[in-house]
Amino acid sequence: MTSTMPVVVRTVADLRARVAGYRAAGERIALVPTMGALHAGHVSLVEAAKAEAARVVVSIFVNPTQFAPTEDFSKYPRTFEADLEKLSEVGAEVVYAPTVDVMYPQGFATSITLTGPAAAGLDDIARPHHFGGVATIVAKLFTQCGPDLAIFGEKDFQQLAVVRRMAVDLDLGVDVRGAPTIREADGLAMSSRNVYLSAEDRAKAPLLHQVMQAAASAIRAGGAIETARIDGAMASGRQAITAAGFSLDYLECRAADDLGAPRSGAPLRLLVAARIGATRLIDNIAV
Ligand code: PAF
Repeated sequence: MTSTMPVVVRTVADLRARVAGYRAAGERIALVPTMGALHAGHVSLVEAAKAEAARVVVSIFVNPTQFAPTEDFSKYPRTFEADLEKLSEVGAEVVYAPTVDVMYPQGFATSITLTGPAAAGLDDIARPHHFGGVATIVAKLFTQCGPDLAIFGEKDFQQLAVVRRMAVDLDLGVDVRGAPTIREADGLAMSSRNVYLSAEDRAKAPLLHQVMQAAASAIRAGGAIETARIDGAMASGRQAITAAGFSLDYLECRAADDLGAPRSGAPLRLLVAARIGATRLIDNIAV
């Protein structure tokens, strides 16, 4: 297979010059925002982008404002050279890898405040500043790059809902798409943070997916969605996760669009977050 290394740009001016060239040639542009440490899940996002657009820009930026001081910003895996190799194999044209100074210039004083899916009582409880940081950086990436569409993994389902809402509310002119979660053979959702898992915790981690699958079948069993059946499935799911030694943040069944309470006729989504050892895992599936 022939592979060409992507062009790496580090400033807004260079990014805009590249994108302007593609636009002048009438080409569609897709953006795949990432924090690097790329794995097969990210590669699948780039593949989805390639299917939709002639040119794919992948951003790699570990965004400090979406990490709390107690979180893993400084130890978040950084694997830039390996990331470029992976992107060359999948055919991304441009890697946008700005420095912190480019994204947060001296005196930076503006950020985005959110309600709706960002205040759904899921990851926002344990990570109250997280989605504000995500929305601010994603809004910047959208306005810097000006893509036709952007692809986000469904793995971060609340993030996807937040970004979708923001793109509509702020008329950002970017079609926000979700792409399915890629899983290891045993069902564990791929995540850059899986490298933190000890061998013992790694062996337990697929339980989250198994519990959600069992809960989804229990909710679906018997046809019409009933609150009592959902509550029962959530109670036994929570019990199974806790009994396996996880510290559970939440296991919830929500409406898939706005992450509010289940409504009749709305597609449902199960979402989970739990800590095993020092690692916090999140996952979700459709019901
Ligand atoms: O999902 C991620 O990797 C990040 O939250 C994102 C969307 C790149 C924003 O920093």
